[in-house]
Amino acid sequence: MNLNWDNNLATGIVNIDNQHKELFDRINKLLIAMKEGKGKDEVIGTLNFLEDYVIKHFTEEEEIQKKNNYPKYSIQHKQHEEFKDELKELRRTFENNGTYALFVIKVQNRMSTWWKSHIRDLDKDLGKFLIENSK
Ligand SMILES: [Fe+2]
Repeated sequence: MNLNWDNNLATGIVNIDNQHKELFDRINKLLIAMKEGKGKDEVIGTLNFLEDYVIKHFTEEEEIQKKNNYPKYSIQHKQHEEFKDELKELRRTFENNGTYALFVIKVQNRMSTWWKSHIRDLDKDLGKFLIENSK
């Protein structure tokens, strides 16, 4: 049920891979808090904890892209902004309706799909670019 990082998701850039693992950990903490029916404050706490790290990660990743003139920066930036909006939407839905089984499953599927396809489609390409261009 948890989000698991595996080698197929490796970008080859240690820093980025470690941040992705930390993100998966924080997503799992949120999902666990929701599944266990923790109180609103506790779930919001895990959501804040995740959001802080999402912002830190996207900011750092985008800095690296700009510094290296990565040609697909604008696609990355657009997806990152979309994910931040999704987190805000998730917070709104949770604050209005609390948590329930179907919502937890939806969040879990969305997180898993979003992160795995973002990493496979974009971040791995970034990793390849950085390795080829950092001489
Ligand atoms: Fe990214």
